[in-house]
Amino acid sequence: MEIIITSDPATASQEAARFLAALIRKKPVAVLGLATGSTPVPLYRELIRMHREEGLDFSGCTSFNLDEYVGLGADHPASYRRFMQENLFSSINLPAARIHIPDGLTQDIPAHCAAYEKSIAESGGIDAQVLGIGSDGHVGFNEPTSSLASRTRIKTLTQRTRSDNAHFFASENDVPHHVITMGIGTIMEARAVLLLAFGENKADAVAGAVEGPITASNPASILQMHPTVKLYLDEKSASKLARRDYYRWVFENKPDWQRD
Ligand code: GLP
Repeated sequence: MEIIITSDPATASQEAARFLAALIRKKPVAVLGLATGSTPVPLYRELIRMHREEGLDFSGCTSFNLDEYVGLGADHPASYRRFMQENLFSSINLPAARIHIPDGLTQDIPAHCAAYEKSIAESGGIDAQVLGIGSDGHVGFNEPTSSLASRTRIKTLTQRTRSDNAHFFASENDVPHHVITMGIGTIMEARAVLLLAFGENKADAVAGAVEGPITASNPASILQMHPTVKLYLDEKSASKLARRDYYRWVFENKPDWQRD
């Protein structure tokens, strides 16, 4: 795991955007795994800036989002389909036909999930998966105790996640209980994983994921088994890492050839 500790979310997001931009420039048909929540918003803003000012071209790319709330369609203000449209897709040139987000209104969830997995595989697999992390260590909507081998499927949210995400809704009661999410097994097949975490509320989850045991009780801890993971943190989310001085030293002293 590469742990990148920066002073603030904006700097961390610029670093992550640089990695994605380098990937897209090297592989114009890159397959991007995308995430929602407040965390990736500054990353998306930076990608939009790079598109406008530096000609970063998404026209050959494909995207797969991690998850969606069951029962919410594109017209619902808190749906992830709407979130992605507003925070990224409306401002870049990623072709609509190659944007994939689980359909919260599907009538056949198991068939839809199987088809989602199939289309990820048919696209050649995800080159880089962007992740946030829940305060309980969830990635996508894979709540604690999710199978570490899981595939895209329905999940039931914990009360903690429903309250954490209530600010996107009119009230906590409006947060759906069910979601469709890529599985942990699906996420682990991405060729690179970029996990962003900001703020004190994420410090325990980050410390558990990086320095704790690999356990389904902190789903992000499985990333210890992935060969290419980058964690972009701010001081607050990194505050409970016992080895943070070591991670800082490693990043500041990387050989030039290792920089993206
Ligand atoms: C939701 C999303 C996750 C995200 C998490 C954290 O549960 N499904 O992908 O990582 O929220 O959200 P935030 O970035 O708003 O803290």
